[in-house]
Amino acid sequence: MLTWDDYNQEDSMAATAAPEPAVVAAAAAAQEVVTAPEPAVAEPAPAEPSPEAMQAAEEVIANMDASAGVEELEMGASRLSVDEKAMINCRADLNQLVPFKYDWAWQKYLDGCANHWMPQEINMTADVATWKSSDGLSEDERRIVMRSLGYFSTADSLVANNLVLGIYRLITNPECRQYLLRQAFEEAIHTHAYQYCIESLGMDEGEIFNMYREVPSVAKKAAWSISHTHELSDPNFSTGTIEADQQLLRNLIGFYAVTEGIFFYCGFTQILSMGRRNKMTGVAEQFQYILRDESMHLNFGIDVINQIKLENPQLWQTDMQEWARAMVLEGTELEIAYARDTMPRGVLGMNANMMEEYLQFIANRRLAQIGLSEQFPGAKNPFPWMSEIMDLKKEKNFFETRVTDYQTGGALTWD
Ligand SMILES: [Fe+2]
Ligand SMILES: [Fe+2]
Repeated sequence: MLTWDDYNQEDSMAATAAPEPAVVAAAAAAQEVVTAPEPAVAEPAPAEPSPEAMQAAEEVIANMDASAGVEELEMGASRLSVDEKAMINCRADLNQLVPFKYDWAWQKYLDGCANHWMPQEINMTADVATWKSSDGLSEDERRIVMRSLGYFSTADSLVANNLVLGIYRLITNPECRQYLLRQAFEEAIHTHAYQYCIESLGMDEGEIFNMYREVPSVAKKAAWSISHTHELSDPNFSTGTIEADQQLLRNLIGFYAVTEGIFFYCGFTQILSMGRRNKMTGVAEQFQYILRDESMHLNFGIDVINQIKLENPQLWQTDMQEWARAMVLEGTELEIAYARDTMPRGVLGMNANMMEEYLQFIANRRLAQIGLSEQFPGAKNPFPWMSEIMDLKKEKNFFETRVTDYQTGGALTWD
């Protein structure tokens, strides 16, 4: 049987293989076609602008007030100092990217760009054969693939809505906004990747894209995310009072720590476990790239939440901390219910009880990351290979060649 290592080796060999003679001949023929003389076509004469129109344009430019636009900026557009920058409610010019105050945000933007990838670069041929074969996957394995694509195909659209409709507007810092633009594009790539899988496998698109409304364990997660990030997509919501700023912080915890930090982990673990068993390796490869992006989204979100807390300690009172704890626990319960629905029996070397412990381990991490005590003492990680996959610097078995290529292309080196 083809192992994952063999698969990647084949992939890289195919990329460097000499072209087939027929391909060379076709290329030569194409060259001849290109070098054949083109029939002469008369260029249309450029239209003369009317003297009145030219004069009017010149007058507008001559009388223009160069400060008109920037005067509308709060605090004007004077040169910016680092001390004027703030995560929320900043009144300084947001068009000046530098000087940086939050180097971590800029670094994540650079790292995100260096990890760029596109779904159609991943070979799905073996997956199509497995999916269409009557004995390629068990019923339980097929259910996992369907549910995963059902949840994620719409979840990343909800995530993108939050980013571009709310978070970008409400986070008042240009280096964070620069990362948010990168994250928004990555979410578009993820939705593209799910669609690419669904289309390649010939799935019923209506069934998959409606699971977030029709399958209870999927629908509850989507409904929780929408209701706990409600203000982010409300165009009338604005910050500036303690209540509103706390509401934003709650939304950010619901978005980053729970939706991106808990709700993705059962599905990612199941699909990556499938890939480790040499099944649906194309889908698994897509999910691995997505997981790498998502772990950076999560880390960025945690940094944003903690920076807001640091700059606005009045927001992080006991009631707020209890809200945050309750949200993480609710999210964990929903994800455990999803694990039970998607794994009624043991499958792929795991079962719902193991996933429950894994999710409790994850919940402890999320609580600790936002400064709260752990809730599940002694919960261990039954899937240590997930941590290795997330940290691709340690990863030796999966995508080393492609990652190296991207990072060379994404980094500025002139020597
Ligand atoms: Fe995503
Ligand atoms: Fe994300």
